[in-house]
Amino acid sequence: MSQAPDNTTKPLPKHVAIIMDGNGRWAQARGKDRSYGHKAGAEVVRPIVTACSDLGLEALTLYAFSTENWTRSNEEVSTLMDLYVMYLESERQLFFDNNVRFNQIGSRDGLPPEVLDALDRMKEETKHHTGLTMTLALNYGSRHELTLAAKSIAKKVKLGDMKLTDITEQTITDHLYTAGLPDPDLLIRTAGEMRLSNYLLWQLSYAEFYVTDVCWPEFTVEELQKALAAFKGRTRRFGGVV
Ligand code: IPE
Ligand code: IPE
Ligand code: MG
Repeated sequence: MSQAPDNTTKPLPKHVAIIMDGNGRWAQARGKDRSYGHKAGAEVVRPIVTACSDLGLEALTLYAFSTENWTRSNEEVSTLMDLYVMYLESERQLFFDNNVRFNQIGSRDGLPPEVLDALDRMKEETKHHTGLTMTLALNYGSRHELTLAAKSIAKKVKLGDMKLTDITEQTITDHLYTAGLPDPDLLIRTAGEMRLSNYLLWQLSYAEFYVTDVCWPEFTVEELQKALAAFKGRTRRFGGVV
């Protein structure tokens, strides 16, 4: 009889990226409005950050708002913006207690000043922390990020600060919002959709994908453990032969 392989000693991912999806559907299935789902979803972040910190992961990156999410109703967008401010305020202690360094990726353009202040404050206050780096992808779009990188590299070449022949893959990596972070090795998407939705296109090149039907407001540490166990069971080949 064949036995299930023992993956317990296999390494954990260094960097987990999550697409926290399904807040709206979860709320609507309960006869509530979408905001109810967003509020419930915000509550889930705390146990997941704590678990990732306890596991000793290097980085956790959470997709909170995409550059395309501005197309939603003003009401929904403003509920979300208020929630980010409230979250960053209410979770300060969590970041201190767990030595978590806070980071944001995404454009500042269009974000309300209260959100920018809350982001800047949390970033500044946790910049000396040496544990988990928790990054919020807020007003983030991968195509926008890559476009900015292209412009910034082109400008350096034009000014003579860089030679065309000096541009390598590392140059691109270094010009992204995520410069300095390891590439995510595990991508988790909740609520069942099998797409990237403009998330970390460059950085996820060799990430393992894990999609669950569980909506974000119901995502638990147990669900995270299932994703980590699935990751440990994967054979990563990076184009080679194992
Ligand atoms: C994810 O949940 C949260 C954000 C995108 C801000 P959704 O709001 O996308 O929920 P669904 O996908 O409509 O259920
Ligand atoms: C991706 O979810 C963005 C976030 C989770 C913040 P969406 O709900 O916006 O993605 P689509 O529209 O289903 O592709
Ligand atoms: Mg969605």
